[in-house]
Amino acid sequence: MPKNKLTVIGAGNVGASVAAYASAQELGDIVLVDILEGIPQGKGLDLYEATPVLGVDTTVTGTNDYAATANSDVIIITAGIARKPGMSRDDLLATNVKIVGEVAEKAGKYSPNAVIIVVSNPLDAMVYTAWKKTGFSPRKIVGMAGVLDTARFRTFIAEEIGVSVEDIHALVLGGHGDTMVPLTRYCFVGGVPVTRFMSSERLEQIVQRTRQGGAEIVGLLKTGSAYYAPAASAIQMARSILSDKKRLLPVAAYLDGEYNEKGIFLGVPAILGEAGVEKVIEVDLTPDETDAFKKSAQAVKDLVKEVDKFL
Ligand code: APR
Repeated sequence: MPKNKLTVIGAGNVGASVAAYASAQELGDIVLVDILEGIPQGKGLDLYEATPVLGVDTTVTGTNDYAATANSDVIIITAGIARKPGMSRDDLLATNVKIVGEVAEKAGKYSPNAVIIVVSNPLDAMVYTAWKKTGFSPRKIVGMAGVLDTARFRTFIAEEIGVSVEDIHALVLGGHGDTMVPLTRYCFVGGVPVTRFMSSERLEQIVQRTRQGGAEIVGLLKTGSAYYAPAASAIQMARSILSDKKRLLPVAAYLDGEYNEKGIFLGVPAILGEAGVEKVIEVDLTPDETDAFKKSAQAVKDLVKEVDKFL
């Protein structure tokens, strides 16, 4: 069987961590791309030199040239900049639309059959940007947010109850950020509803901590945002696609009428396989959850309107 090929764009904290996990899990040959000269080459070579120790046969190539990415099976986009002091949200949006749009377009030309996983923020807007600039089928573009949000939630719940993180299953819907909709009704611990283990007040506190999960890390790091858990989350999605595992994961997927929304990417449960997003799964929502989901969808639509101005 030919080896898989994985391209990671952006060799910063998230991108380098994605490449490190991908290589350690022997997902395939890896190409790491960045606009900076020397950084992807240096980090790529360093990761390649770790392969004998890890016992994995993957090559890791760092480059500034998209030709090296040709015929990738999966492309993970982590390029972008973080908000700097004095920068408005619009400035950030304009800059990252330009960066993500440009890298998606270039990489898409060399790998027309790839599935693209977007990690750059603001997530829901960046997935939309990658879709517009590549012209790919929307099922071939997916955003990483829900896996990370549920990973945070699962960590806190497991710690609270004192059970394995593996036995916690959780679901979040909606946009990545303040409007995310955690569905605690769909949270189970080894098949048992989470409410059996803690009061609704305590559960709500954990939901709040999850909502603020990104900000909590930024507050500690001060000079950047989270990267290990985001990278691990992107890798879980890439594995499901590359191995056609058909995992059912919360991801930012294109909605074509599902959940009464059309034309935007938003966090929903979906099956990931070799074709990308193979199916969006609709779940029953209470009136409150429906309201929260609609608000989240509206926030993403407002953002997408801004993106359209920059495209
Ligand atoms: N082409 C390629 N790479 C680029 C480009 C470009 N046009 N513009 C910027 N980059 C690269 C930078 O050179 C840098 O190496 O993107 C990388 C970003 O890395 P970091 O600044 O370390 O940011 P990181 O923490 O990795 O976050 C990247 O992921 O989780 C999201 O919010 C986060 O949007 C951010 C992204």
